[in-house]
Parts: sequence; structure tokens; C-alpha cells
Amino acid sequence: MNSQSSAVDSGSMTDIVSLCRRRGFIYPSSEIYGGLASTWDYGPLGVELKRQLQNRWWEAMTQQERNIVGLDASILMHPRVWEASGHVENFSDLLSEDTVTHLRYRWDQLSEECRATMQSPDGNPLSPPRPFNLMFSTHIGAVADDAARIYLRPETAQGIYVNFRNVLQSSRVKIPFGIAQIGKAFRNEIVTKHFIFRTCEFEQMEMQYFVLPEEAPRWFAHWRDKRLAFYHALGIRPEVLRLRPHASDELAHYAQEAVDIQYQFPFGWQELEGIHNRGDWDLRRHMEYSKKDLQYLEEAGRRYTPYIVETSAGLTRSVLMVLCEGYRLQQLEKEERTLLALHPSLAPITVAVFPLLKKDALPARAEKIEEELRKHYRTFFDISGAIGRRYRRQDEIGTPLCLTVDHQSLQDQSVTLRERDSMQQQRVKIAALRSSIDTLLAQWQPAHHQR
Ligand code: GAP
Repeated sequence: MNSQSSAVDSGSMTDIVSLCRRRGFIYPSSEIYGGLASTWDYGPLGVELKRQLQNRWWEAMTQQERNIVGLDASILMHPRVWEASGHVENFSDLLSEDTVTHLRYRWDQLSEECRATMQSPDGNPLSPPRPFNLMFSTHIGAVADDAARIYLRPETAQGIYVNFRNVLQSSRVKIPFGIAQIGKAFRNEIVTKHFIFRTCEFEQMEMQYFVLPEEAPRWFAHWRDKRLAFYHALGIRPEVLRLRPHASDELAHYAQEAVDIQYQFPFGWQELEGIHNRGDWDLRRHMEYSKKDLQYLEEAGRRYTPYIVETSAGLTRSVLMVLCEGYRLQQLEKEERTLLALHPSLAPITVAVFPLLKKDALPARAEKIEEELRKHYRTFFDISGAIGRRYRRQDEIGTPLCLTVDHQSLQDQSVTLRERDSMQQQRVKIAALRSSIDTLLAQWQPAHHQR
């Protein structure tokens, strides 16, 4: 199931955003009211793609790991959590404002010249940089005073730390073990751009691995390598993924060691996931602030505060990566086709079923086949339009296989299976469909194309 090697263009962000909107992957939020900056809604295909991605992560991080259990903590937490975690004090970017246009800039993203001359890119005076906390705050209950102030969580991780003792006491986990969680996080980002890459509301897939302090460096290396392999297994080409270790002066306030997994987006190399050795920072601080014992007692009698190795991936950012990676404009002999070469396990639809024509017994036979396949795959039935156009519509949304029922099918019980990337077709007996489909899906390889 290899891609054919005709001229290929990876497309720009504008192409990708336009496809997402046109085909129902991602829409601007509240669009009928003019939209709200940098907020997005996932349409019928987008929600399916996002769900498949999170399912692959959940399978890899919980079902395929003996020592990792799941959790779903609430978004709203006790405000002391964020004091203990250091977010109230430290979770800020330096911000500077153009005093004429009132546009706000992240200090670290202004050019050296702007910072030296204290002039904005528009040439106006800049205000002195000041810290801007990225947490959204709101109030709980009827009284909007400071005592009722709470925050929307800026990372899912803290929900895991505050449940460390609960999980330890209620399940039979023993160190080393992990707790995994997928959920929404919120940051009042000063600069949001590149579609769903950096948004104020996003989803994270995080796993916190609790280990012996002296074993933290070994587990850090273990998870770094395993997380990179996860992306390779989803068909992301190794040449567009890289590791970027953090220098000591850029480490987050909680981290002893950190490395980013970066992906080469159309707008450059950017972080996809962070792997951190958080030391005992989080549990130690929660013990201090909550006055509860969060230490671990070994059977042999050793008592200690576990170190935490964290893998923190952006779910919504990974959706963008998968879309960028799959998007191709392919120049065929007579026409151009748009192709979303998604890994079959992520594709919103796995098999599209078509009757060649809307007549005779073809629609009924095709419907019956689709009904059977629906028990095993994500299927779609399409009866309208020329067959070539139906194929193109599926190519564009990443469906790996199309199946066509024609008059010959009624005679010899065979159908045509067409593969998305190579466009190759083969005749397959209906009785052998499942095994042919499974073989083709398992054989899929990413095409090596240049960005
Ligand atoms: N618990 C650690 C933590 O949150 P982080 O590096 O700040 O670490 C982890 O975030 C991941 O979350 C990032 O690698 C990125 O994929 C995603 N992420 C962070 N901020 C984001 C934003 N504003 N929009 C979309 N994804 C974001």
C-alpha cells in the first residue's frame, strides 16, 4: 500500500485550513456571530480524527502498559492547587504593549532590535515588559469576590498529583507506576496563531510516572524514546520529528530536565510534546500546602517522595500535525488531486462503499456489504455523482479504501477495492473482503515526500 511517486506538494497552512473547513474537520467557533479569535469547533470528521488519535494514545499509554492506570479529574480545582504548583507565582510570559496601537507582544518573540530600541514592529514606543499570568480565572458561587476566585486548569497534570494518594490507596499499583489523563486545559495566550497550533482552550494527553528518585534519569530516557516511537508508529516520517533538549536556563519552574519532541510544521520546527523530569517538586509542594502525607512507603521500609517523569502531549496540536503530515496536492496526468494520506488507524472513515450506478440491484447489494463491514470498520455509503468524483471526495478526507459494486459483482460476487495513496485497484471476492481489507490496512506505509 505504497504511495505513487508523481509530483507532490505538501500544501500551505491556508490550503489545510480551507480543507478543514470545507470538509467538516474544523470550523471557526461561534461563526454566525463573527467568530471568537483562536477558538475552533471540531466538525463530524474532525471529532472522529481527534477521537482516533486520543484512542491510539490511550491504548499505548494504558492498555499496553502494565503499570499505568487512567484518571479523569475535574477542570475546576481548589485554588490552593495552583499556589502549590507554582502557577500563580510563575506561570507567566513577559508582555509588552505598543503604546499607540495597544497590540500586545510576547517579549521573547520580539526581535532583538525591537527590544533594544523599545519600539514595536510598527515603530511605536513599547511599554516596559511585565509578567502576564496565563491562567484564566473565574469565580465559583454567587459572590464574585477574591475568596471565590478559581482558575481553569492550565495543565491536566495537577489533577493527577492531587489524586496520587487516592490512586495509591484504592488500586494495587506499586512504584514505578503511572497515571494517564486526557482533558482540556486553558491558557490565556498572548499570541495565538497557526490555526489550532496555539489556542487558549486545548486538549492535553498527559502521563505522570512515579519513580524512585535515583531512577528518574533512566525513566526519563525510557519515556523520551517510547514517545518518539509512538509518532513513528502513526506513520509520521522520522525526518520531520526531532528531539530538542532544554538548556538549564529555559527549564520550566518544576523541571530538572526536559526535552521537547518537535515536528516540522509548514511554519517551522515546533514543540509537539514535552517530556519532563519534575523531580519531587509537585508532591513536595502539595505536601507543604495541603499538610497531607504524599510519601511512598516501600515494603522494605524505605519512605520517600517519588520523583515524577511526565510525558505531556497536545492532543489538538497532534491533530494539526497529522493533518499537515497527510496533506498532499498531487499532480496527476490530467488533473490535480488533494490527498490526506492519514494512517489508516486515524482516518475518520476506513472504507467507503459505492454502487457504481444508481440502478438495477447495485445500490441494494452495496448497502448490504456496507452494513456487514460497518460491524468492523468505520464505513461510509455514497451513491451520488460520478465514481471518479466519489473517489476524490474520499481521498481528500483521508479514507484509505474505497469499494465499488458493479454489474460484475452481481455475477461473480467480487468487488473493486481501490487504495487511496497508490490509487491501485484490485478485484476481491466478497467472501474474502475482510482479510483483503485487513491486509491492505496493515501494509500501509507513509510516502517519503519533501516538505
Ligand atoms: N504539564 C506540562 C505541560 O503542560 P507544556 O510544555 O506547557 O507542559 C505540553 O505543554 C503540551 O501541551 C505542549 O507540548 C503542546 O503540545 C500542548 N500545548 C501547550 N500549550 C498549548 C496551547 N496554547 N495550544 C495548544 N496546545 C498547547
